[in-house]
Amino acid sequence: MHVLLRGRAAIITAASRGIGAGVATVLAREGADLVIAARSLDRLVELAKRLSSQYGVSVIPVRADLTKREDVRRIVDEAMRNFGRVDVLVYNTGPPKPGTFLELSEEDWEYGVRLLLLSAVWITRDVVPHMIERRQGRLIYIASITLKQPLPELTLSNVIRISVAGLVKTLAYQLGRYNVLVNGILQGYVDTERIREVAAERARRSGVSVADVIREMEREIPLGRLAMPEEIGELVAFLASDRASYITGSLILIDGGRTMCI
Ligand SMILES: NC(=O)c1ccc[n+]([C@@H]2O[C@H](COP(=O)([O-])OP(=O)(O)OC[C@H]3O[C@@H](n4cnc5c(N)ncnc54)[C@H](OP(=O)(O)O)[C@@H]3O)[C@@H](O)[C@H]2O)c1
Repeated sequence: MHVLLRGRAAIITAASRGIGAGVATVLAREGADLVIAARSLDRLVELAKRLSSQYGVSVIPVRADLTKREDVRRIVDEAMRNFGRVDVLVYNTGPPKPGTFLELSEEDWEYGVRLLLLSAVWITRDVVPHMIERRQGRLIYIASITLKQPLPELTLSNVIRISVAGLVKTLAYQLGRYNVLVNGILQGYVDTERIREVAAERARRSGVSVADVIREMEREIPLGRLAMPEEIGELVAFLASDRASYITGSLILIDGGRTMCI
């Protein structure tokens, strides 16, 4: 069977469940060796065991809180120690606290900046020199549909994630000459714990049930359903592969047709 990523070494952050775990599953199926990172080591270990026995790849779990600089450093260190290189970085992060501007504290903003921006900067700083040295690399930043279409109750995501678009464009410009390709993914609603959290928040504010909020979300999507995490993984696998050799600096929507702006 032809696989896209046989022998590649990839890092996936925030990978213990949800979108990150879905991406890890697809990349492992495509033959990549992985470092998967998040805070819950038990979940990571379980996922690593399942993927390595199912697909015969190496999967290294690393406990790391992305808001802590030293933890982030350990992720790339572990990849280098185990694989001697990093071909692909898939940056995903934890969901920010929902809330309106007036509801958020200054501490919430500081934490949000560490979670949604600084962690991306830190891990990029750690991984890029290794990619430049080998004149090869793929940086893929999983961001959000909120870069295109802000969502009313997601102030931190609406404001801070915009800078990930700037990061993608700037890095694509500066790293192209080293054959390091850089792209961002703007996913719509994906069926994970996070979407139920967002739905619960909306339900609380509008006095309807969570099930009704989810049905309303599905009605907004031309394909009529939420994405599965693995469907985001399929796009990541393509971007990480040799088939995507001329795509860089792109912010790619994957939202079942929900966003109507051109
Ligand atoms: N689901 C959607 O519809 C949707 C849409 C647009 C954007 N997003 C964004 O996409 C990202 C992933 O969402 P998801 O739906 O997969 O969420 P999820 O199911 O809640 O999973 C979140 C993942 O992030 C990890 N995480 C949380 N805080 C972390 C931290 N401080 N350090 C390291 N890892 C951390 C969690 O693991 P641990 O708890 O083990 O650390 C978990 O693996 C989030 O940023 C979310 O806001 C989601």
